[in-house]
Amino acid sequence: GKGTYPFYMLKEVDEQPVVMHRLAEKYLDAKGNVVLPADLLDALKQADRLYIVAAGTSYHAGLVGKPLFEQLAGIPTEVVLGSEFGYHMPMLSKKPMFIFLSQSGETADSRQVLVKTKALGYPALTITNVGTSTLAREADFALELYAGPEIAVASTKAYTAQIGVEALVAKALGTAFNQPAAKQFDVAHQLALAADGQQALIDQKEHLHDLAKDMFATTRNAFFIGRGTDYFVSLEAALKLKEISYVQAEGFAAGELKHGTIALIEDNTPVVAFITDPVTAEHTRANGQEVQARGGKVLHIAAHDLAKDGDELVIGDIDPLLSPLVTIVAGQLLAYYTSYDRGYDVDKPRNLAKSVTVE
Ligand code: F6R
Repeated sequence: GKGTYPFYMLKEVDEQPVVMHRLAEKYLDAKGNVVLPADLLDALKQADRLYIVAAGTSYHAGLVGKPLFEQLAGIPTEVVLGSEFGYHMPMLSKKPMFIFLSQSGETADSRQVLVKTKALGYPALTITNVGTSTLAREADFALELYAGPEIAVASTKAYTAQIGVEALVAKALGTAFNQPAAKQFDVAHQLALAADGQQALIDQKEHLHDLAKDMFATTRNAFFIGRGTDYFVSLEAALKLKEISYVQAEGFAAGELKHGTIALIEDNTPVVAFITDPVTAEHTRANGQEVQARGGKVLHIAAHDLAKDGDELVIGDIDPLLSPLVTIVAGQLLAYYTSYDRGYDVDKPRNLAKSVTVE
């Protein structure tokens, strides 16, 4: 049950630090090495390219996985929407391996891709929260998210668990390939930092509630911007806000604002800027200033080593590749309080089902 929580979503947001620790317990041995089934590691090693297939929030978790696999394991990685890929399959590499990301393991859009790639003889790994699900049973390999049941329609802890498992698999593969970047990436430490960073935001609920009121109480639209991994988390933060509060929210690559979207900025238009990528932090800040110059209202969510006076939220130390594990908690809570304050049923938004078993 949801105990003293008004909605499951808030409980599930709060559970994320525990899930980070659980992933470390389940996937790491006493020496901190990632333990994967040997045949799964072999299949991954033989692939010349990974294709991550998913929908919705899981697709957004897949996007965060791409730089993890490419930088830690040195393997080219594509992230695709099942509903697009299955019917308009691009030219594939010679030895592809498919990774299906799905909280429920029942998403029909992803399953039709698995049916097709299996018929073509390509290996598949499903990463899911439900070990007995269709996608888990039908793939060659399955790994679990260990997030515990996710009841709220809006996915929260499954997203962060998916990123955690992607980091673990990327670390294992990079280590098998003797990649220096994988050696330097202390995944146990990073999962612990993620848990701490998430908890620090969870402990600031009142502040997040105030920020949600200030930014979104009456607005009809909102924008989330960032670059690189901060762009990927922008997409997910926007999806959270739109699906439970019905605010028209869009995530944008910050640099694209000036190529059109900035025309939408009016007095008090809310814009959330994620600033955790050291390479582009100053560029994203400049985009925020362009928004402010047009009357828009900017909420800055910054990494502590990139933070400036006046930033509304500063997150704890974490590798920039994994910053969405922490920054999304702010996005989730902003969406939660906006929906709550507007009097909606946070757990059961209109027109949505928890698992989408039709194409
Ligand atoms: C958003 C949400 C959906 C799901 C999507 C995929 O909060 O819950 O976008 O992420 O329907 O579902 P799974 O992960 O079960 O395949």
